Amino acid sequence: MAATASASKVKNAKLVLLGDVGTGKSSIVLRFVKGQFVEFQESTIGAAFFAQTLSSDDQTVKFEIWDTAGQERYHSLAPMYYRGAAAAIIVYDITNPATFTRAKKWVQELQSQGNANTVMALAGNKADLLDARKVPAEEAQAYAQENGLLFMETSAKTAINVNEIFLQIAKRLIQAQAQQQQNTNGMVFVDRGDSRTGSASSCCS
Ligand code: GTP
Ligand code: MG
Repeated sequence: MAATASASKVKNAKLVLLGDVGTGKSSIVLRFVKGQFVEFQESTIGAAFFAQTLSSDDQTVKFEIWDTAGQERYHSLAPMYYRGAAAAIIVYDITNPATFTRAKKWVQELQSQGNANTVMALAGNKADLLDARKVPAEEAQAYAQENGLLFMETSAKTAINVNEIFLQIAKRLIQAQAQQQQNTNGMVFVDRGDSRTGSASSCCS
């Protein structure tokens, strides 16, 4: 009915999930896309594709989600999925420190090989298993802050923070787009008037 009116505000965003085997990437996607959870989720082969839209204020983001396989033998396929991605969720399991180490490797790989504009989020999954926690939230939070990542502890099982992490990403994408438009418009003003306001260290001519 009124769908066409808002169609122009839909932003398509390629999103990739990366992380060690068994951290819950597919489970997070299943929870986000279908609102479901299964105890015995099969290990992903290659990658799987899903789509889901999310609205924030009057903006709609259509996520085109690539759920990659965590098994090491699929590592070489990953660049196909993270190149050109607007967003990436790097998942670790809060009960397994090795998966946190692996997550940091993914962050490094994206920082060096990926797109500088990709919005990155770190998800400490299985947050329902508090008794088995091995990765302190503070440690992950500090790491995320140092590297400019969004950070949340999630649980695909109980649904904690699953929608929220996608929502935060959507907000950042919308914000980044608005900023970009502003910069493009603002460029004219910077060129005309602001060239004298910069300090000597930032000057160029
Ligand atoms: P690969 O596809 O092999 O890379 O693994 P994955 O990261 O997609 O993990 P997957 O979603 O297959 O989950 C692995 C196992 O962890 C499954 O048995 C899930 O049921 C379980 N699991 C996933 N998320 C959670 C969670 O939030 N809490 C708990 N308790 N278990 C979870
Ligand atoms: Mg999987």
